[in-house]
Amino acid sequence: MKAKMLANMRAHQEAVAEILAALAKGDGEAAAKIADARLGANSPGAAACRPDAKSGAHGDMPMMMASHMPQDMRALGMTMHTQASKFAEEAAKVKQGGDLRPALAELGQVVQACNACHAAYRLD
Ligand code: HEC
Repeated sequence: MKAKMLANMRAHQEAVAEILAALAKGDGEAAAKIADARLGANSPGAAACRPDAKSGAHGDMPMMMASHMPQDMRALGMTMHTQASKFAEEAAKVKQGGDLRPALAELGQVVQACNACHAAYRLD
């Protein structure tokens, strides 16, 4: 379970790196797609943090992970996932050569949400 959780985390980190690479090319649409699919509120990785986490759609792993996380921790997780969806919305609006700043501001908030949970929780 721990290994799975840390692997999820590294995947989050990779997603952030790929998002930044897409933004560096001015490709807001690609950045939005990565954020939606891999970090957003409806991404598979968000399943364990959703208030209605249960077995089903994404299998039993999210359910098992959810049962090991305090409610407040899952709420911090949802804050991050929801914020990633907000970023995706903003990034999708950026036309080639357009102003990336509003999207970057939302991405900054995503990373803040990562940091907030890291400041509060350890696996053991
Ligand atoms: C709901 C809480 C929570 C959120 C949100 C969260 N993390 Fe984590 N993350 C953890 C915990 C807990 C650990 C393990 C820390 C420990 O035990 O030292 C961790 C560890 C990590 C690690 C280390 C992985 C390893 O192999 O050791 C990385 C990288 C990471 N997180 C990236 C991220 C990124 C990037 C985000 C945001 C996009 C994020 N995390 C959001 C809780 C969270």
